[in-house]
Amino acid sequence: MKTFFPALLLIMTGMPAALAQTAPVQAVSDRQFARQIAATCAGCHDTNGHAQGNAIPSLAGRSREELTAQMQAFRSGARPGTIMQQLAKGYSSEQIDAIAAYLAAQSRESAKGSQQ
Ligand code: HEC
Repeated sequence: MKTFFPALLLIMTGMPAALAQTAPVQAVSDRQFARQIAATCAGCHDTNGHAQGNAIPSLAGRSREELTAQMQAFRSGARPGTIMQQLAKGYSSEQIDAIAAYLAAQSRESAKGSQQ
């Protein structure tokens, strides 16, 4: 009974408040999650997708649809690449979408001030 009591109390009294708090917390952690997986791209595409120079394309501020389509094309093999074909296979469609949304929200111009 001891272990059930807090859960029961939550159900009886705290549930609406607990539910109300879930949404914003979830939104923050989703963004955090997207940021973390997008960080795996930074080694080559630079911070938040701001690559310098021409060897590796910059990703910041490009459309979510375009980034998703390119990643899916790499993953399926429709688009050949030196490294991206291999890398893209490591991400689920949900992860690709989260990364694309994160990168699309970054400013194109500068890595500064794009920490959101
Ligand atoms: C090891 C270095 C490396 C990493 C890590 C990396 N990329 Fe790439 N990316 C490249 C290279 C090189 C290209 C050029 C295509 C090729 O040769 O595979 C490229 C191309 C792309 C393109 C096509 C851009 C265009 O203009 O056509 C997209 C989109 C992309 N990468 C997304 C990502 C994402 C998202 C991640 C993280 C999940 C990522 N890349 C991680 C090296 C990397």
